[in-house]
Amino acid sequence: MQDGAGRGRGWCSRSKTTASGSPSTDLPRIFDPFFTTKGRGKGTGLGLAISYGIVREYDGAMLVESVPGRFTRFRIELPVHKPARVSA
Ligand SMILES: Nc1ncnc2c1ncn2[C@@H]1O[C@H](COP(=O)(O)OP(=O)(O)OP(=O)(O)O)[C@@H](O)[C@H]1O
Ligand SMILES: [Mg+2]
Repeated sequence: MQDGAGRGRGWCSRSKTTASGSPSTDLPRIFDPFFTTKGRGKGTGLGLAISYGIVREYDGAMLVESVPGRFTRFRIELPVHKPARVSA
């Protein structure tokens, strides 16, 4: 499972998409702004970057696991307690 490098624990949400697994070479990059495997002019590559940014604001973690051609599964972990450091 590839970690978006967060440190979450506590509340956990999982979502799985079928038949669209990503190659392992793509996984470390999918949270990067403007990284997209959609065609030119189709994806902005910002969806996951923005989602990851929001999760990190709450001191959480976003992880992805993928089997090419079978599934991609995302997991969001959020701390149950409000972190001491909260940015505006
Ligand atoms: N639900 C998903 N299932 C499988 N792969 C995904 C999923 N969401 C994103 N990805 C992979 O991660 C890449 C980056 O996702 P991201 O949401 O940042 O941009 P995008 O989906 O390509 O563009 P946009 O969000 O603007 O439509 C995608 O191009 C795709 O390869
Ligand atoms: Mg997207």
